[in-house]
Amino acid sequence: MVSSSLFNRASKVFPGGVNSPVRYYTPEPIYFARAKGTKLLDEEGKEYLDFSMGFGAVFTGYANSDILDTQMEIFANPVPEGVVNEKEIILGEMINEAVPSMEMMRFTNSGTEATMHAIRLARAFTGRDIIVKMNGGFHGAHDYVLIGAGSGAATFGTPTSPGIPEEIGKTVLVGEFNHRESLEQIFEKHGNNIAAVIVEPIMGNMGVILPEPCFLEFLRDITEAHGALLIFDEVITGFRFRYGAYQDMIGIRPDLTTMGKIIGGGLPVGVFGGREEIMKNISPQGKVYQSGTFSANPYTMATGIATLEYLKKIDYQSTIRLACWIEDKLKPYEDMGLKVNRAYNMFTPFFNQQRVWDYPSAVASDSLKFMTFFRGLLKHGIYLSPGQFETSFVGPAHSPESVEMAAFKMVYTLENEMNESGNA
Ligand SMILES: Cc1ncc(COP(=O)(O)O)c(C=O)c1O
Repeated sequence: MVSSSLFNRASKVFPGGVNSPVRYYTPEPIYFARAKGTKLLDEEGKEYLDFSMGFGAVFTGYANSDILDTQMEIFANPVPEGVVNEKEIILGEMINEAVPSMEMMRFTNSGTEATMHAIRLARAFTGRDIIVKMNGGFHGAHDYVLIGAGSGAATFGTPTSPGIPEEIGKTVLVGEFNHRESLEQIFEKHGNNIAAVIVEPIMGNMGVILPEPCFLEFLRDITEAHGALLIFDEVITGFRFRYGAYQDMIGIRPDLTTMGKIIGGGLPVGVFGGREEIMKNISPQGKVYQSGTFSANPYTMATGIATLEYLKKIDYQSTIRLACWIEDKLKPYEDMGLKVNRAYNMFTPFFNQQRVWDYPSAVASDSLKFMTFFRGLLKHGIYLSPGQFETSFVGPAHSPESVEMAAFKMVYTLENEMNESGNA
């Protein structure tokens, strides 16, 4: 097996054989050699239909002809790096026009950096130290967001990774997504010291969890009432369901927004932005430090511009319709304990007897069963995001025929291959 031998080699140079833990699954991850559109080719020449799409970063499909020419041009005729260039202004203006709350912004190289800087800025602007995040919410891999719930509703968080000082946990409180009372308790006790609430407006990192009616409106109100900032982490949702941000679909204006993934068209990117009054505190205009050698690098900026130009032309509704097909086909299996959570064009099949609507119900899902399903689908050439708490994505490059066939194979796998051991 080619993947086994590559994984053996990888395990000698990378801890666990990978460069990001979410890429690992047992017995070893499949090594892919090529991608085009929504098709992946593994090292043995087997083809897969991709619903992970680089964990949602490659929304437009690989080697999209509307974007490729721009990429070839910038690599052949480089714009200098580490200096200012017009491309960053063009992409900044496009985002500003599409997401009005991002009056000013700063580009970074990842979503992790974007949330890290947004949090620092929120603390500096408010002069307060405490950040509130949601249980199960993911905002990257820096110290201030790898904090889990403490022992009680309004007690400080605890680091979820060794190496993060306990002291950092004392500046982070963890609320329960979709549970107003948990946030009310936190604000009642600590309201005057809270700099910001950071939240994915649709949770995508414990699988897809939609906000309950009025929950995000409540977050807007309670932050405003206490002089705290509201940060929407739209790294996943930005430009995914419409040309713009999710916040404008629901009419809520956060103080700061973070994005990444789609806006870089598959190259490393992040951005944080918001009210001018807040953003102008970033250096050199203000005192809050932020920098990056590769920030707004011309390759990503050029790709981002071409990607957004392409997204202006697509029919988002058809991507949503295709995701609906998958949901509809899997609905009859609810009784078998399969709950498909779908938000527009992204979905997670949860193996769970109960409705999945918050962190406790998500973690009660059967991860082993999910992996049986995942491996069964691999055999049939379907690649979902590899984990029960991940999200799978439909984009404009998915054809109706391919999605219909994939939905059929999902049903076949559920009906015929779920009794096998974890090694389907
Ligand atoms: C909501 C959210 N925020 C932040 C991040 C971190 O982004 P990156 O992996 O680009 O650092 C992710 C990554 O998946 C994410 O889903």
